[in-house]
Amino acid sequence: RVPEPCALVVFGITGDLARKKLLPAVYDLANRGLLPTNFALLGFARRDWGDMEFAELARTAAREHARTPWREEVWERLAASVRFVQGSFDDDAAFDELAAALADLESSHGIGGNAAFYLSIPPSLFPVVLRQMERTGMAESTDDRWRRVVVEKPFGTDLPSSRELNELVDSVFSAQDVFRIDHYLGKETVQNLMALRFANSLFEPVWNAQHVDSVQITMAEDVGIGGRADFYERTGAARDVLQNHLLQLLALTAMEEPVEFAAEDIRTEKLKVLRAISLPADMRQFAVRGQYEQGWLAGQRACGYRDEKGVSAESTTETYAAVRLGVETRRWAGVPFYLRTGKRLPRRVTEIALSFRKAPHLPFAPTDTEELGHNQLVVRVQPDEGMTLKFGSKVPGSVMEVRDVSMDFLYGEQFTEASPEAYERLLLDVLLGDATLFPRNAEVEASWAVIDPLEEFWADTTPYPYRAGEWGPRAAEEMLAAEGRAWRRP
Ligand code: BG6
Repeated sequence: RVPEPCALVVFGITGDLARKKLLPAVYDLANRGLLPTNFALLGFARRDWGDMEFAELARTAAREHARTPWREEVWERLAASVRFVQGSFDDDAAFDELAAALADLESSHGIGGNAAFYLSIPPSLFPVVLRQMERTGMAESTDDRWRRVVVEKPFGTDLPSSRELNELVDSVFSAQDVFRIDHYLGKETVQNLMALRFANSLFEPVWNAQHVDSVQITMAEDVGIGGRADFYERTGAARDVLQNHLLQLLALTAMEEPVEFAAEDIRTEKLKVLRAISLPADMRQFAVRGQYEQGWLAGQRACGYRDEKGVSAESTTETYAAVRLGVETRRWAGVPFYLRTGKRLPRRVTEIALSFRKAPHLPFAPTDTEELGHNQLVVRVQPDEGMTLKFGSKVPGSVMEVRDVSMDFLYGEQFTEASPEAYERLLLDVLLGDATLFPRNAEVEASWAVIDPLEEFWADTTPYPYRAGEWGPRAAEEMLAAEGRAWRRP
């Protein structure tokens, strides 16, 4: 489906996100024929640029990071409708100019007044930008045109600030016009979780406490904090990704079947899970945070977090977080959900692993059968997108020896179509007005209600050190060992 004629306005167009994700996504959409013929892209930033310079930046960004092959004629067509508005966010004149540019494009490019505003800026700047949009009447949807706003995470830093932010956004845009981006929901494999669970009759009967022993959700990164010291120092791993990406993965794994595959139905089911999450009674044992020290990754020396440029030498910001959560519903009572994330871990991998209960009885000789019967289903979100089912099989030979084997499904082998990048998919959904893959504000607030007590507990602690290139601090291993389990080594 192709969106109606419209404009996309990006605030903070010179930032990292715009360069690496948004501009390439716009090009990819154009290349796949998914943008309307009447489309305009407007960039707004402080830099003293003209349309030409902006178009050049956009071209370079798209060429460097686009997923689809480069086609000059596609870019040329896009470039004809690119505009740049220069100004700071508290500058009334600049916003008047933006409103005028939009009105002009309405007639000159036939965009029909429809526009999506992407706030690719720090949340501290939201109030001033939203007020400007309100003042100039830009935020108003009417019967003849839609106006939407896209908000990037982090949505606040705790429950009170996220409430405040939600109230502010909702005071300027109506709820159905607000799109909160959690880019993990744009990933194909994450959406496939729903297909896996609800389009098959094989998995759902065992997807519950009666059969599942525990669930591990891992988001590991080998990279450090890049050039984002300032942001990361204030944020830390739990606020950066546990609050959003990991809790959304948990919600999709644990939720009930939605009545329909529609925004409100899916959001309602996810919200029920988020509200049913329980924190460990013993945080000291079951909520662990860590910080990487100097180490080695892929044969390269990696500096410690405190030695990163822009990071305080006494920083107590965590770069690793692991926690044991419960989901207090009939389906999941008693099943631990172990979540972990970290920077500078041995490899980049995101996966959801369900470990099933052991077979109630093993009629085989006890050799090598310790782990036997512990079936596992692993959904690999990235990289090597796919799924693995682990089960016991007889080893060929005259002796009855059973060992674990794997059955693999790889996206790349089954499908030839390249999957769209998460931002490409989500941007298209914004322009189409489809909110299915965007968390509702109640979900965001329920997620902060999980994170706030953790942060409160951690506030008086120092993160455990772990060496760059290792799977996190020892305390995280002990956390699972205390319950007779171990983290997977993906
Ligand atoms: C972002 C976090 O939301 O996700 C980053 O702010 C993190 O710290 C990134 O590196 C990871 O995204 P992806 O898609 O590469 O797994």
